[in-house]
Amino acid sequence: MSFNTVDPSDQSDKYEVLFSEEEIQQRVSELAEEISKDYENDPDTPLVLICVLNGAVFFYSDLVKQIKHPNIICEFVSISSYGSGKESSREPKILLDTKNPLADKNVIVIEDIIDSGYSMGALLEILASKDPKSLEVCSLLVKDGRQEIEVPVGYAGFRIPRKLWVQGYGMDTGEEGRTLPFIIVID
Ligand code: IMP
Ligand code: MG
Repeated sequence: MSFNTVDPSDQSDKYEVLFSEEEIQQRVSELAEEISKDYENDPDTPLVLICVLNGAVFFYSDLVKQIKHPNIICEFVSISSYGSGKESSREPKILLDTKNPLADKNVIVIEDIIDSGYSMGALLEILASKDPKSLEVCSLLVKDGRQEIEVPVGYAGFRIPRKLWVQGYGMDTGEEGRTLPFIIVID
């Protein structure tokens, strides 16, 4: 059975729903409000919101539409980390870099999930070298105690146990499960 074709109303015993569509959307709205408040006193500095493709795509689009700031720039990056497996490669490569200069801008990197921290650690190093005014991380999920590379996550949606592997709302296993509107746990 392919999870991409699953009926959201079918609570199949093949998977466990970790976060429902409603729970995700509620948290996304809270994060958007928090970010809007944090940058409201700096309206003249562009706020660059960077989507980490492909996993963060749905989170990013739901979140960014709700962030209130007069000077938002949307950017997209892609890094290789997992390929089709479940273990981080530890040497992530940049496949798509930002297009606009980041110097003197407020930057928030928007990610689906932080596991070992290798991907975000590598990305932050590259972005920091572009001299932004500020650099923050917003991740929908953070795996507790899994970080081998310390990553400062200013905005965390949900913290989940380290042993879980999740799919849905952008997150996949070898491309499976990405388009589910909710998040499931798989074995
Ligand atoms: P890290 O480099 O180990 O922190 O891995 C981060 C990236 O791996 C995330 O951006 C995801 O794309 C992917 N990833 C980590 N854990 C999971 C998971 O449980 N499900 C799906 N993708 C995951
Ligand atoms: Mg990702």
